Amino acid sequence: MRILLFFAALGVSAQDYVYFRDRVQPVFLKKRPGHARCVACHIHRVPALEKLSPGATNWTEEQSRKNFQNWRLFTEKLLAAPLKGGTKFHPGGKHFASKDDPEWKTLAAWARGATDKSTGDVRVLQSNSAGDDIHVIDPATNTVVGGITGIEVPHGLVISPDGTRIYVTNEAQVTLDVVESRSFQVIKRIPLSGKPNNVDISKDGKRVYVGIREGTGAVDIIDVASLTNAKSVAVKGEIHNVYVTPDGKHVVAGSIAASTISVIDAATEKLDWTLTLSAGIRPMAFTTNRDGSTKEIIVQLSNYHGLALVDFAARKEIRRFELPDPPGVHKETEGLQGSPSHGLAITPDGKLLWATSKWYDSVMAYSLPDFKLVKVVHVGLHPDWLTIPPDGKHLYVAVAGDDATVVVDNKTFEVVKTIPVGAVPKRVVSGVLR
Ligand code: HEC
Repeated sequence: MRILLFFAALGVSAQDYVYFRDRVQPVFLKKRPGHARCVACHIHRVPALEKLSPGATNWTEEQSRKNFQNWRLFTEKLLAAPLKGGTKFHPGGKHFASKDDPEWKTLAAWARGATDKSTGDVRVLQSNSAGDDIHVIDPATNTVVGGITGIEVPHGLVISPDGTRIYVTNEAQVTLDVVESRSFQVIKRIPLSGKPNNVDISKDGKRVYVGIREGTGAVDIIDVASLTNAKSVAVKGEIHNVYVTPDGKHVVAGSIAASTISVIDAATEKLDWTLTLSAGIRPMAFTTNRDGSTKEIIVQLSNYHGLALVDFAARKEIRRFELPDPPGVHKETEGLQGSPSHGLAITPDGKLLWATSKWYDSVMAYSLPDFKLVKVVHVGLHPDWLTIPPDGKHLYVAVAGDDATVVVDNKTFEVVKTIPVGAVPKRVVSGVLR
C-alpha cells in the first residue's frame, strides 16, 4: 500500500501483471455486437496477442506473460485507439462509445497501475510425499478447497511472492514443476541437475533455488523470467533443504550427508561460507536482528531430539539444547528416518517458535528470543513440517503417520481441527494465491 501511494505521489505507475491477465485480457477476448474481437486481428498486428491454442478459450500463463510484455508498451494507445474520439481512425473500429464504458474503464485502471492485490486468497498447501497430489486448504474454514494433481512424489513447494505461481520439486521426473495459481495446472516442467529436495524463492520472485540431493551437492538456480535452469552452484554435500533468509540476502542450504550448512550470497550467487556441525543438517529457521538482518539459524540435526543455534554473524554454533521428554508419554522410535525432530516454524511476530517431536507425537512451543518452553501439544503420529499463515493465528502440522494436517491455535494451544489429506503429508506451506 505504502509503495503504491509512493508511486501515485510521483505520478508514476507500473502496470500490474495479474490485473492484466485477469481483467484486461477478457476485454480482448470478448465479442461485442457488430465488432470483430480484438484477438481476431491482433494475433497478426502490433500490439501483438499470442495465438490461442486450438480449442483454448484463454491464454496460458506463458502466453499471458508475453501479451503483458507487448501491451504494457502501448498503454496510451490502448486507451485511445478503440475509443470514440480517442483517435481519428483505428482499423479495428471504435469499440467504446465514451470513457464511461465499463470495459474502457478497466483498461484505463490497468494503464494507471491498478492492481488486484487485495483480492488474493490465503491458502495452506499440503504436499503428500507418498502421493501424486497436493491438497489446497482454506484456513478461513480449515477445509480442503482444491488440489494440484499430476505431480508424483512432490517434495518441496513454494508460493511466488506475487501469488501467481507455485513451484514444486518433482522427484519422479527430476524437474521443478511450475503451477499456475488459479487453474492449479502445471504450465512447465524445468529439468534439474539431479534429484531435488526442498525449494525456496527470492523475495523479488525472480530466482527459485532448488536443493539437489544427488552427486556432490548443488543448488540449482531457476531464472523465473525465462523459466530455465540458469545455473547450478556447487556446495558442500548433497542438499536436503534450502532457505532464503528473511532479509533476502542469503540462500542457506543444508546437507544431511556432509553435516554442512552452505551460505550463498543471493546477489553474487556464489558460495560465501560454510559451517560443519556434528550431525546431518535437517530443517532450519531464522531469527532476525532489529534491522532485519539474520541473527541466528535454528537447526535440527540428524538423530538429535533438540535444536542447535548458529550465530550468523560469528558463523559458529553457540548453543544446543534438547526438547523435553514429557513424563509418562509413549516414545515413538519406529520409522524416524534419522530425525526425531523434523519441522520448525516461527510466528510472524517473531515471538513463538514451534518444533516437532516425532518421539512424542507432538509439537513443542518455545518463546523467542529466550527459547523458553511454553507448551507441548499432542498432534498425532510422525508430525513433520509446519507452517503458519500470515495472520499468525494457527499452526498447521503435517502429521505424516496419520495422513492429516492438524491445526493448532497459537494462543490457546488447542488442536482446533484435523483435516484428512493424502498419502504421507510432509512439506506444508502457506501464503496468498492470486
Ligand atoms: C479488424 C481488426 C482489428 C480489431 C478487431 C482491433 N484492432 Fe486494433 N488495430 C488493428 C490494426 C490493423 C491496427 C494498426 C496496426 C498498425 O498500425 O500496424 C491496430 C492498432 C491498434 C493499436 C495501436 C494503435 C497505434 O496508434 O499504434 C491498439 C492499441 C489497438 N489496435 C487496440 C485494439 C483493441 C483494444 C481492440 C479491441 C477492443 C482492437 N484493437 C481491435 C486492427 C484491429
